[in-house]
Amino acid sequence: MDSADVESDLVNILFTEEQIHEKLAEMAKQIEADYDGQDLLMVGVLRGAVMVMADLARALNRHVEMDWMAVSSYGSGTKSSGVVRILKDLDTDISGRHVLVVDEIIDTGLTLSWLVSNLSSRNPASVAIATLLRKPEAQAMPVSVKYVGWDIPNEFVVGYGLDYQERYRNLRSIHTLAPHVYS
Ligand code: IMP
Ligand code: MG
Repeated sequence: MDSADVESDLVNILFTEEQIHEKLAEMAKQIEADYDGQDLLMVGVLRGAVMVMADLARALNRHVEMDWMAVSSYGSGTKSSGVVRILKDLDTDISGRHVLVVDEIIDTGLTLSWLVSNLSSRNPASVAIATLLRKPEAQAMPVSVKYVGWDIPNEFVVGYGLDYQERYRNLRSIHTLAPHVYS
């Protein structure tokens, strides 16, 4: 795929690289204040959260540990299946730990509400969620999200870790995808 192909697939830039970094710096300040004096284990949800985790963790001016989980909730399309499976579990024992789950987007909230109840059963000191983006449906979910970058409309977005059929994750900014790509 050449760069012209990539560009014709994308409509609006929703958030530029600069806006994303400003937002993550704000979230990092809040996290530093809230977890002051406490240990912090950040759990990134593979694969989409890789960019958010890398930049959010580096925006934190404190010690932090990172671990990763992989769960499946989406097939290769744009609709949530509602079925969650653990593909890769944590390497860390989280009992007594303060856990911050880091994700790039919450759509229906099904994946994260399932993940939070799974992690909560392992006796952590606390479990909270940080997400860069949140879609409208998730706001109605019982799952409480402690840190949200932006609430966005119900459109399919790609870039900065977000994929459509494994493509576009490597873009530095976040874009809405042209409907011709997935219709
Ligand atoms: P949920 O269970 O419906 O909240 O789905 C969460 C997961 O679906 C996210 O972690 C993403 O991997 C994927 N997802 C949801 N919306 C989008 C989107 O607009 N673009 C790319 N991936 C998305
Ligand atoms: Mg994800």
